[in-house]
Amino acid sequence: MRDRRDYYYWQAKKLGYRSRASFKLIQMNRTFKLIKEGDWVLDLGASPGGWSQVAVELGAKVVAVDINPMEPIEGVHFIRGDITREETLEEIKSVRRYYDVVLSDASPKISGKWTIDHLLSIDLARSAFKIAREVLKDGGNFVVKVFQGEEIQNLFNEFKRFFRFKKFHSPKASRKQSAEIYFVGKGFKRFKAQRNIQQSRV
Ligand SMILES: C[S@@+](CC[C@H](N)C(=O)[O-])C[C@H]1O[C@@H](n2cnc3c(N)ncnc32)[C@H](O)[C@@H]1O
Repeated sequence: MRDRRDYYYWQAKKLGYRSRASFKLIQMNRTFKLIKEGDWVLDLGASPGGWSQVAVELGAKVVAVDINPMEPIEGVHFIRGDITREETLEEIKSVRRYYDVVLSDASPKISGKWTIDHLLSIDLARSAFKIAREVLKDGGNFVVKVFQGEEIQNLFNEFKRFFRFKKFHSPKASRKQSAEIYFVGKGFKRFKAQRNIQQSRV
């Protein structure tokens, strides 16, 4: 069994974060300046709430979505929903039409089979981006988790043209043995993305 009691596990306990994942967002925010005070942040795959806590601390207003329940956090509007479903997008839009930042730390249920987990995570990342394309403001920031594997480059090619700055990044707080990596996109090109949606509907 994996030893959960690493440095970040204990730090999270000490500082009152609900998960060690909080430190990944703290580190990425330090590196990439993703969230600023007053921003509206959409946190997909948010439970138990470690990223939402960090976003609130940074002065953001947060809408969090998860298929599983989440204990309330002050300053966070929680939607219980599946990010692969259209009705969840509608609910997100009904709370707030546009967001400054869209984050997704959503993970599939791990099967332990590398390729399956990789492909499921790619599907979830595409669902997160589909939501971002609808609700992210022009110039906004997007972060999404994926498990590494052969589809990574295709995913990067799909996402990259919609952002001024784009990169795959592995925060220090990710476990060394973990396959996870984050796509970080800054400066969303909303009008290009909208044109692309319209063309794909024709
Ligand atoms: C690694 S956890 C997120 C941890 C969170 N960032 C934190 O800091 O506490 C991944 C989450 O993704 C959620 N998830 C997986 N598939 C989902 C889906 N289709 N729709 C919504 N949430 C999903 C899971 O329920 C789980 O809570």
